[in-house]
Amino acid sequence: MSARKPLIAGNWKMFKTVPEAVAFAQELKTAVAGVDGVEIAVCPPFTALVPVAEALRGTGIAVGAQDVHWEESGAFTGEVSPLMLKDAGCSYVIIGHSERRQLFGETDEKVNRKVRAALAHGLTPIMCVGETLEEREAGVTEEVVRRQAESGLAGLTPEQAGGLVIAYEPVWAIGTGKTASEQDAQQMIGFIRGLVRDLYGAGAAGAMRIQYGGSVKPENAAGLMAQPDIDGALVGGASLEVKSFVEIIKAAC
Ligand code: G3P
Repeated sequence: MSARKPLIAGNWKMFKTVPEAVAFAQELKTAVAGVDGVEIAVCPPFTALVPVAEALRGTGIAVGAQDVHWEESGAFTGEVSPLMLKDAGCSYVIIGHSERRQLFGETDEKVNRKVRAALAHGLTPIMCVGETLEEREAGVTEEVVRRQAESGLAGLTPEQAGGLVIAYEPVWAIGTGKTASEQDAQQMIGFIRGLVRDLYGAGAAGAMRIQYGGSVKPENAAGLMAQPDIDGALVGGASLEVKSFVEIIKAAC
């Protein structure tokens, strides 16, 4: 049994108005009272960060954003800085999600700038990596994930690397209902931990939490969470309902 505390984080993507988000937070707070041995985070859209953080204050349930810019302030229309996320009550931020990489031109270099800026402001990045179906079928999964992880972590100290979270999310498993098998997820997450060991040493590799993401549901969560290198989940669709999110949280305890 690893000493790492699993993190179950809900990525709400572009869902929930402020009243819906606050109602969810209130319900979640009650539903997980007394749950131990797992860290919980929700990542609402920017508009709901402040009210959700207020609703969850003092509960131990963390709040994360879904993206961040690397500058602290400036003329960057439409962007939100790490300083602003801290101010809004966030402790986590998702960086490099495949939807941002595929739809919004997020490059490995931008991911690295965001990771370093988030850490500099005391936010914990949840850095996403993962291959597309074409890449898996072409047999370049490890090559792709190695490139994303090495570039994303470039320039960090071993302490910083050990403190962040990586989410392995194979793109073909996101929102498709197709989950990686427990063995495939464990194999890739073990591969990432090995990379971190090579780059930053055994201390960082042993401390870093590496989540699985991609169609995690109450039915498959326990099997995935039982794998030795899988330290929780980044949950999309099933994190939008309190019932299914809480079942996944309980599967990780
Ligand atoms: O970041 C979470 C994610 O992309 C997985 O989404 O809906 O397949 O759980 P989903």
